[in-house]
Amino acid sequence: MDGAAIIEQLMTTEVRTDPYPLYAKARELGPVAPAGDGMFVVSGYAAVKKVLRTPAFGVATAEMTEYAAHSSLALLGRSILQRNAPDQPRVRSLIASVFTARRVAALRPAVEAAVGRLLDGMAEQGADGSSVDFMDAFAFRLPVGVICELLGVPEQDRYRFRGLTSDLTVALEIMQDLDGLAAADEAADELAGYFTELAAERLARPQDDLVTDLARIAAADDERLSARELLANLVLLLVAGFETTTNLLGNGLALLFRHPEAAAGLRRGTITPAGFTDEVLRFDAPVQATGRVALEPGLVVEGLPIPPGSGLTLLIGSANHDPARYERPEVFDPTRTDSQPLSFGGGTHFCLGSQLARLEAEVAVPALLDRLPRLAPGGVPTRRDRLVLRGYETLPVTVR
Ligand code: HEM
Repeated sequence: MDGAAIIEQLMTTEVRTDPYPLYAKARELGPVAPAGDGMFVVSGYAAVKKVLRTPAFGVATAEMTEYAAHSSLALLGRSILQRNAPDQPRVRSLIASVFTARRVAALRPAVEAAVGRLLDGMAEQGADGSSVDFMDAFAFRLPVGVICELLGVPEQDRYRFRGLTSDLTVALEIMQDLDGLAAADEAADELAGYFTELAAERLARPQDDLVTDLARIAAADDERLSARELLANLVLLLVAGFETTTNLLGNGLALLFRHPEAAAGLRRGTITPAGFTDEVLRFDAPVQATGRVALEPGLVVEGLPIPPGSGLTLLIGSANHDPARYERPEVFDPTRTDSQPLSFGGGTHFCLGSQLARLEAEVAVPALLDRLPRLAPGGVPTRRDRLVLRGYETLPVTVR
């Protein structure tokens, strides 16, 4: 199997169900391998990390593609996730200035309260022994509630976002063609319309939230933050803020069911919530892949020259299972130290929400074990047919 076949296989349902055997084949080709047509597939830990941390490997921007016809791609394409310097650092620093560590830390009591409320809801829903869908009842509701609290999205609007962002994030997948984007485009238009109205409302009646802060910056100086950039990045914060964390919680609970010894260790205190979260992030990363483009000549990765204009598929999920970096990578071991999985990316695009995502998981995991001590699988879970954003569609549990 060559690099091109690896990329092709990534788009099959079989591989999306379990991509790890294919990743092992990719690593056999070397940590970085040609994939035909100016493409490379990067599967080794050191190689993925190096590409992420080398600014001369940028992201593919809307100007480099013919995507403008799709509003989903155009919208995400104006967010920092898909911009290079000078736009990305300019806008990222504005977002970072309002999305501060202090604001995140201050959310802890609200996260604890939300976790408690949602677990009470699950206990009630499953009190008669019937199964409860963990993805809907908890894994989706916690992060959507938290990010909406930060952004300032009113409570009554929150629950409709699950379908909308699920539709929109198809635009982040590795795609063979762009035919399947109709629902993503509709979702992009609806979300952009929603945040246009919310930003106007907050300018008129300011609150202590991110929409107010960012809308004020944009209203004061279009050069610092244009109206289009404001919208794109508000949508990005919403989407990046919960779909990934939803999958972290779902993937984490599925692993907890498969490893009762980890649950016992968490109860005894020999495994910390932070260690458990780190190993879930490594073992079954919510974001499995990303892409980069060589922006300059003379780039070399692990001895392989990468010509300018080349496209690179970075297999984060593979890097996290690289035996050159991890001892027994296929073993789920929450007692690992110095794990540093690449699950939040690296370099200039390193995830802005990693502290928030960790906070949510580290509060949720012990609370789940404590409040629902009889939590058990309640049926066959279903996976989402996605590669990049890896997670469950449904994860039935019983609580009694
Ligand atoms: C488990 C949860 C999460 C995972 C696994 C995750 C993963 C990632 C990854 C891999 C990237 C880099 C993509 C690339 O380099 O191409 C990224 C970027 C980003 N993430 Fe997260 N994320 C998570 C949660 C969050 C949360 C809670 C937020 C916000 C509230 C957030 C906001 C962002 C933003 C704004 C970026 C773009 C940064 C930039 O381009 O400069 N993420 N995330």
